[in-house]
Amino acid sequence: MKGQKKPDERQYLCFMMLIHRGKFTLQRENSTHYAGFCILHAAPGHLAQQLSLLHPEERSYYDTLQFDKRRESYLLGRISAKKAIGALSAFEDLQKIAIEAGIFQFPVVKYSVTRNLQVSITHCDGLGIALSHPEVHPLGVDVERTDKANTEAIKEQLTANELALTLTVPLPQPIACTMIWTMKEALSKVLRTGLTMDLKLLEIQSLVKEGELYTSQFKHLIQYKAISCQAGAYVCSLVVPGKTTPDLEQFWQFFRETVSD
Ligand SMILES: CC(C)(COP(=O)(O)OP(=O)(O)OC[C@H]1O[C@@H](n2cnc3c(N)ncnc32)[C@H](O)[C@@H]1OP(=O)(O)O)[C@@H](O)C(=O)NCCC(=O)NCCS
Repeated sequence: MKGQKKPDERQYLCFMMLIHRGKFTLQRENSTHYAGFCILHAAPGHLAQQLSLLHPEERSYYDTLQFDKRRESYLLGRISAKKAIGALSAFEDLQKIAIEAGIFQFPVVKYSVTRNLQVSITHCDGLGIALSHPEVHPLGVDVERTDKANTEAIKEQLTANELALTLTVPLPQPIACTMIWTMKEALSKVLRTGLTMDLKLLEIQSLVKEGELYTSQFKHLIQYKAISCQAGAYVCSLVVPGKTTPDLEQFWQFFRETVSD
């Protein structure tokens, strides 16, 4: 993890844990909305110091979890989501918010003072990323690490058109496949279904390099678009409404810094 430029937006809780948080604008033709974000990186076993951030309902659930991996991912998700809410709404007492799982496992923010905030969560290895957003303006996020076994599994799930698109961009194909996969997962989070559907419904139509980022339109869900960033083996995608222009410069900078050693 690299050097510090804006200490107000970063927190080194100890050298084993790094938290970036901030907010970004979601510019639309006739309105402006705001989203909060948190990118949290923690070495294994170092999240327990954040347990006090859990609401009693979350703590009860956490105590039922048997596997260390799930305990870790649960904490990564809940802590990053709360800090993303905190980045947007200084009035919130984060311990008093509970992020419940809805019937399809989507996160639901309960007891928030700023009642219309919702979150999108992703975790991978020791990395947790969350977005907080007003309910009127959906957002989704997904992060994955590219690896050989996953790439083969992903390739089997992509359409012929999507596979062809992976060859049109200046990325190694495993990265391009992972990128498309994260776009589809992030869209499935916006829809609150997860991947419990015919994955062709999530198909992307285009994949275009724009500067350091990649953008896609969806073939069926034309109301949305995806924006992706690759850093090393990691790929992160955000899905936003098609006519929204998000100011993601700081978010991507923090993402790159977090996953680069
Ligand atoms: C939802 C899904 C896209 C998540 O992607 P993933 O790469 O596995 O995991 P990520 O770390 O990126 O995201 C996990 C977070 O997504 C969120 N999430 C889960 N289901 C969701 C849904 N239906 N809608 C929106 N968000 C959802 C949760 O916040 C979850 O974190 P948490 O459980 O700690 O709260 C994927 O797991 C899925 O489609 N699951 C449905 C199918 C299923 O349940 N399979 C498992 C049994 S076969």
